[in-house]
Amino acid sequence: MTNPTENNLYLPSKEVIAKANVKEYDNLYAFSIENREQFWAEQAEHLGWYQKWDKVLDASKPPFFKWFCGAKTNIVHNAIDRHQHTEVRNKLALIWEGEPGDVRSFSYHALNREVSQFANILKSMGVKKGDVVTIYMPQIPEQIFAMLACAKIGAIHSVVYGGFSHEALADRINDANSHVVITADGGFRRGKVVEMKSVVNKAMELSPTMEICITIKRVNIDVYMENGRDYWYHDLVSLPIASSKCDTEQMDANDTLFLLYTSGSTGRPKAMIHTHGGYSVYISTTHRMVFDIKPDDRYWCAADPGWITGHSYIVYGPLMNGATIIMYEGAPTYPYPDRWWKMVERYGINILYTSPTAIRGLMRFGDSWPNRNDLSSLRLLGSVGEPINPEAWRWYHEVIGNNKCPIMDTWWQTETGGFMITPLPITPLKPGSGSKPFFGNEIAVVDDDGNEVKADEEGTLVIKSPWPGMTAGIFKDTQRFIDIYWSKYKKQGWYLTGDSAKKDKDGYFWIIGRTDDVIKVSGYRLGSAEIEGVMISHPAIVESAAIALPHPIKGNCIHIFAILRNGYEANLELEHDLINHMVTHMGPIAKPEAITFVDQLPKTRSGKIMRRVLKARALGLPDGDLSTLED
Ligand code: WTA
Repeated sequence: MTNPTENNLYLPSKEVIAKANVKEYDNLYAFSIENREQFWAEQAEHLGWYQKWDKVLDASKPPFFKWFCGAKTNIVHNAIDRHQHTEVRNKLALIWEGEPGDVRSFSYHALNREVSQFANILKSMGVKKGDVVTIYMPQIPEQIFAMLACAKIGAIHSVVYGGFSHEALADRINDANSHVVITADGGFRRGKVVEMKSVVNKAMELSPTMEICITIKRVNIDVYMENGRDYWYHDLVSLPIASSKCDTEQMDANDTLFLLYTSGSTGRPKAMIHTHGGYSVYISTTHRMVFDIKPDDRYWCAADPGWITGHSYIVYGPLMNGATIIMYEGAPTYPYPDRWWKMVERYGINILYTSPTAIRGLMRFGDSWPNRNDLSSLRLLGSVGEPINPEAWRWYHEVIGNNKCPIMDTWWQTETGGFMITPLPITPLKPGSGSKPFFGNEIAVVDDDGNEVKADEEGTLVIKSPWPGMTAGIFKDTQRFIDIYWSKYKKQGWYLTGDSAKKDKDGYFWIIGRTDDVIKVSGYRLGSAEIEGVMISHPAIVESAAIALPHPIKGNCIHIFAILRNGYEANLELEHDLINHMVTHMGPIAKPEAITFVDQLPKTRSGKIMRRVLKARALGLPDGDLSTLED
């Protein structure tokens, strides 16, 4: 990257272009649109298959698109098995650092051993192809091994973010009808132990289907273990059943790889389905091209594996590309605000991928913390989860990237599986824009009738064409999938993203934010309906509405409007009690910034809360169209 030109465009340097895996965008993009199936078939050739496909794309039953039909594969075949026969075998797959400073590393050979042992343990516990295994863990290597072990034997993993409460966990276990949960006694965060097994124990009391819990010892605390239900991983792994030889199950390309719960516009969280075949192709291709992966790269995606970013770009994408991944257990500011920068120096990290919230959070400590570490190994930076404000972009670019590392601002969703709008290292960059669609994707900003809006005008972001990483649907809820994503532009057959955006005259996309009731706090995706459900479980609350308000570090924060039950009085003590109630019953990430007690909530005549009116009032903005307001 050179300094910005007068129109604020950051041009890639000659060195970056010379070394880039993809050297040109426009022609390849045009080719990928005109020859979508051919483009994706060529990308699929980078992977290994037990059996090749008969058909690249079956679009006969939209929106249920099927990719690589007839093919046999397993994502583990590409993430681990095939590396055993190349020079990648002895390369490091994972360097992990615990918060207290302990370090563990695993070659691809060791990864194969760990995952095979774990897979054999799951099999011996009766886990079969198609079973859903819930994973609720701190960020330790076993979290990754557990995911891969499930995939290896054809079981479906459902990773639940470790910051969720026992109730949120139980909801997800029950919805998925999961019988097995993998956890740890706890993890380290900000110098303290965060208990996990005790949370799982409480969740299991609410989960009639739960039969087996496997626990990894991480923090060495006393936990309650029930005979016949609870097993320590270290006991199981020392038994002869845990052999390090395990065949990888041959899966159909469209068989389910994982469920991942995410929040939507209404109701309880929904489990998005991703499959072995199309997802493998999409994730490995986007990761290789956008992060320009080279054989000796050390790549760090500082997300949590419990979210889609971790699934796609900590675990599966990088491992399929044979990269060395870095993983860190704890808080970025522990014990000092340069923990991350120390890790960059310590491991010679080349690529760092994180969220605007993390960047803003570290930026506030000033330049001296990064400046006292050697960050010269960094070649590329990445951002995901929420729009990045130009100020944070520039700090990341100048102070962390020393003005030489292009920033890949990748726009995508749990549903899309991988990057949809993203720069490539060769793309001239505009701070705050994710630039242009990835190959094969037709993306537009439209009005309610589906007409493209003018340059720089706000509209609805839609995806017009299928892509291999797209979700196969919502687990057990076909109709909801159609209603949420495919009904607004049914006539056109377009996918509704839930985001509003602008496209400028150069074809660059600028994401504005969610138009539905999804709240993005620190890049984490939460649903207003789930938050409100927890609020009204408190005896003092009759009704509530949760909205997102801007926050300087977190991007957004949760603000709650609540109607009190008769006999309760609005005061500070009750507000604190309700905030604690949210933290206990949903998890620390759902902690509201403030609660406003009201007598009434604005509603439509059909009884839907008009959250946009609450938001406008809270921000002191005009109410907007009130024609549907009931009162
Ligand atoms: C938002 C996270 C602006 C967006 C991968 C999207 C972004 C939602 C960006 C999906 C970005 C994600 N710029 N906004 N680069 N990346 N978003 O499912 O609102 O947790 O719809 O997936 O995050 O959140 P999810």
